[in-house]
Amino acid sequence: MSEPKIVPYVTAEKLRELNRRLGKEISRDYAGKLAPGEELLIVITLKGAVFFAADLVREITVPCRVDFVRVASYGAGTKSSGTVRFLKDIEVAPEGKHVIIVDEIVDSGRTLKFLSARIQAAGPKSIRICALLSKPSRREVEVDVAYLGQEVEDKFLIGYGLDYAEKYRNMDYVGYLET
Ligand code: IMP
Ligand code: MG
Repeated sequence: MSEPKIVPYVTAEKLRELNRRLGKEISRDYAGKLAPGEELLIVITLKGAVFFAADLVREITVPCRVDFVRVASYGAGTKSSGTVRFLKDIEVAPEGKHVIIVDEIVDSGRTLKFLSARIQAAGPKSIRICALLSKPSRREVEVDVAYLGQEVEDKFLIGYGLDYAEKYRNMDYVGYLET
């Protein structure tokens, strides 16, 4: 059986450009917000955002630490049920910290809405969302993405952290499967 053909959608070069721009924006904004000795807390959503976040944080020049969270939303296939639950919570207390939540793509918006509400309840100084990609046409709940790489069409994307049944995360570009 032959492998399905992958159509390139966001090139590796474009991804590097987006990371550089996002890193600059974040560094510029937080250089003035962080007190001496203070660190930005970057909360990375497992597993998909790990690939993007690893490149992004290397473009950030203000002091930061990283932590990870894993959530799962339930539903059949690619349709979210609207229920989100924690599989792994963060380990660093967000209380009194400037927090950025990093996800690789915003689809319905439910994951990020749930996560920001959870972290907000812990009393951070601020919370902002950074996402590499966003599918505005799929939004079901409103989320304020302060730092966005780029908007994408309503296609099921793979690569650079995005998976289809756990496959394709290690591609260095984003594409979709030819149907
Ligand atoms: P949301 O809660 O519906 O916004 O879903 C967000 C999560 O669904 C993302 O963090 C991804 O893990 C996953 N997801 C959304 N769109 C895609 C896609 O096109 N390909 C692969 N995963 C996706
Ligand atoms: Mg994700």
